[in-house]
Amino acid sequence: MKTKLLITALTCGCTVTIAQQQTANRPTVVAGFPVNYHEDSVGTYTLPELLKTQDGKPVVTAGQWTGKRRPELLRLVEENQFGKMPPRPQNLTFHVFDKDTPAFNGKAVRKQVTVYFTKDTSDHKMNLLIYLPAKAAKPVPLLLNISFAAYNQIVDDPGLRIGEIWNKEGKKVKADKPTPFGKLNVEQFLDAGFGFATVYYGDIEPDFKEGLQYGIRKTYLKPGQQEPAANEWGAITAWAWGLSRAMDYFETDRRIDSKHVALQGASRLGKTVLWAGIRDPRFKMVIASISGEGGAALSRRNYGETIRHISDPSRYLYQFAPNYHTWAEKVNEMPIDAHMLVALMAPRPLLLQTGSTDYWSDPKGEFLSAVAAAPVYRLFGKTAPSASAMMPAPDDTSLLMNDLGYYMHEGGHTVLPEDWKLFIKYMEKHL
Ligand code: GCU
Repeated sequence: MKTKLLITALTCGCTVTIAQQQTANRPTVVAGFPVNYHEDSVGTYTLPELLKTQDGKPVVTAGQWTGKRRPELLRLVEENQFGKMPPRPQNLTFHVFDKDTPAFNGKAVRKQVTVYFTKDTSDHKMNLLIYLPAKAAKPVPLLLNISFAAYNQIVDDPGLRIGEIWNKEGKKVKADKPTPFGKLNVEQFLDAGFGFATVYYGDIEPDFKEGLQYGIRKTYLKPGQQEPAANEWGAITAWAWGLSRAMDYFETDRRIDSKHVALQGASRLGKTVLWAGIRDPRFKMVIASISGEGGAALSRRNYGETIRHISDPSRYLYQFAPNYHTWAEKVNEMPIDAHMLVALMAPRPLLLQTGSTDYWSDPKGEFLSAVAAAPVYRLFGKTAPSASAMMPAPDDTSLLMNDLGYYMHEGGHTVLPEDWKLFIKYMEKHL
């Protein structure tokens, strides 16, 4: 129910849906655990230090960060939260079955590509849709979106192959029905001189507990291994891995400027793009929408969703490394927190988009995380919220355009049409 509401809100952005979301996003007990929404009950906490190495040395230069501290933290996040991912598969192949076809009245050229992850091409394939401005005289930067729907369901273009999606019963079905998702306005990217690409997350790994038996993670289990080890990949890492495979394709396409690719996703896919950008520095920029707990929101703040809620085996443990759950009852001892995820993107541009009534995702927790991560951006001479920055009011764009940008729209757990416009502005400045 919750997911359905979310998806509706994500693309349609209509008032009715947002109103529903506000109630839906304030559950009081989840997985048997109470949920706090009072600032005076968030608890006291000390964030683990960013700028000190594990052997206690201060980190004072960008070089020390990149050479020593960043790799340490990357390992800790892998180990404790998302899990390790395998490298590019040997048998990765691309089939461009629709090549440079005019679309949107000649404004764009379209490509549809099947990315085969394994040698056996009957399964484990990801459909990648790409539009590039037809007029472009040189390779173009683009935005790669990861979506909850097959691309033919979110883009209005009769030339698209009908994809497949996982239904509520966990079965793969043709994505030939209209959805409540609404359509994404792709032309605004083309008008701004950017390309636009999108993939369906379920092509990589289904989004339910039993999904392991169908997705890409299964093909990496060792003989006799039933499930990923405690520090191996959950579904979020699998989705992030799939995004890197899209990048592998971009690098082969001369019309795409693969050094200037931005990633965007919302909610669990906001967590995904943040992790994908951290793991794969080929991505130049990340726009993480409403990523919340397990994304950019501080875990030590007891507000809205907590690790205890998200990593409960009855909910979303399958999205993370099993180790994540070991911190559910002792978050203050966890060696990492979300400010480290944010800092791991430095010096590359990162925009955190939140919603003022998205209480479950804790927009303030994302703001505080950005403030705490800012010193790392500053090591590189990049702009980020200052230590004395105030939490911006809804729709206040004063922190948006920093290299480490933060923006909270007035509204709930969604990406509004106006948000996309701001993303394009951010891309114009930083991509
Ligand atoms: C749930 C979950 C969140 C997640 C969201 C989503 O609400 O608790 O962590 O971000 O779903 O992806 O829809």
